[in-house]
Amino acid sequence: MQKFLIRGPTKGVKGFINVSGAKNSCLPLMAASILFKKNVILKNVPFVKDVFTMKNLLVSLGSKVKIDEKRKMMEIKNTKQHKLVVPYKLVSTMRAGVLTMGSLLGRYQRKSIFVAKGGGCSLGIRDINYHLAGFESLNAFNSLSNGYVKISSKSGLIGNIYKFPKVTVTGTENIIMASVLARGIHVVKNISIEPEVIDLINFLNNSGAKIKFIGKRSLKIIGIREFTNGTHKIIGDRIEAFSYLCVAVITKGEILVKNINPKFLDSEIKALKKLGCLIKLNKNSIYLKTKKKLRPINIKTSPFPGFATDNMPIILAVLSIVIGKSQIEENIFSNRFMAVPELLRMGANIKVKKNKATIIGQKSLKSADCISSDLRTTFSIILGALSANGETEISRIYHGLRGYYNLKNKLKKLGVRIKSTV
Ligand code: EPZ
Repeated sequence: MQKFLIRGPTKGVKGFINVSGAKNSCLPLMAASILFKKNVILKNVPFVKDVFTMKNLLVSLGSKVKIDEKRKMMEIKNTKQHKLVVPYKLVSTMRAGVLTMGSLLGRYQRKSIFVAKGGGCSLGIRDINYHLAGFESLNAFNSLSNGYVKISSKSGLIGNIYKFPKVTVTGTENIIMASVLARGIHVVKNISIEPEVIDLINFLNNSGAKIKFIGKRSLKIIGIREFTNGTHKIIGDRIEAFSYLCVAVITKGEILVKNINPKFLDSEIKALKKLGCLIKLNKNSIYLKTKKKLRPINIKTSPFPGFATDNMPIILAVLSIVIGKSQIEENIFSNRFMAVPELLRMGANIKVKKNKATIIGQKSLKSADCISSDLRTTFSIILGALSANGETEISRIYHGLRGYYNLKNKLKKLGVRIKSTV
């Protein structure tokens, strides 16, 4: 299995990176293409592993998917009837496969749809009870047998009212996709307003849907009969952008991160300023320069527009070398501190109690052989390696390739001494 070897320390990176399209926007957009009888064209596609997994899932259902990696484009044709079984082998490798529930139900309302119930993952239990309750509010009923959720709506989907008990990103996306072709009007409350959810709403509305905000976290969706053909440019990936900003922070350098709307990182930018970074924002880029002395800070994760849980493992690595005591509170997932054991092996001083981590920053870390366990932990270990003296070997790097496009070359371009081995 592929490994990265990083020779640290990397001091004072100076350069720029072009952020790729957002993986967590691309995946629901691909799932939403099932709702369209005409072609869907996606631009600024990040060809990361999860996108190929979603492509294979769509093809297994009967979609025709053409990709052009050079032009970062994808064309999806859903002219013929889809298969209505989403196999466990695809959902188990990528939880986002659950997003095909909403679009299959939205298009084939009266038929029985079978979607494998995803297992847990390293972040903790990934339940879909709020998704299923949302489908029930639309007059669809579900049952679980042999690990598959069977959903169908005998008399078709009918608009109603549904309030999410807790904010869920893919839950919101699933209910939106199931509602857009339903009869009548559906009101959905306590939705996620992550930029990737807004990107899906914009795509659907630009293709003929009638989705309106009637409150900060409330939508009114008027069902339509059919979509026009859909074309959409995917927004920049805010987690990738933040990850590379932190490359400049941990190496005490400077960076220009391009193709990203700074509004997607409000809370993170505030935290970096408190840390002691100089930041300049433009409409579509973020410039950061790190001052010599950084100050410890406290972070609490929460749904957008709060500090993103996906950015927490990233800032955790940075705070490991900020002298003083910092604290992090993780409020989304039950098991998100997977990077801690690896950073401890590199000499970090981090104590975790329930959902809180206390970090006593060190002057620098030491190289060590590390094993990644999930997508964002991978980048956290990479940051640790940049501040460590010596060569760090990172195994199971495939976790990182699920969500960071062209990872090794983008790091190399910033002056990181990195090579990959098997
Ligand atoms: C999305 O996952 C993202 N994935 C995750 O990114 C991200 O970490 C997460 O949102 C939080 O921002 C995609 O968009 C493909 P949730 P999602 O439903 O939708 C609980 C990455 O790194 N919950 O918002 O699965 C759940 O257990 C990935 O790219 C229920 O209890 O997350 C969790 O504790 C990792 N019942 C919390 O809500 C439900 O029905 C938030 O989960 C749904 C969720």
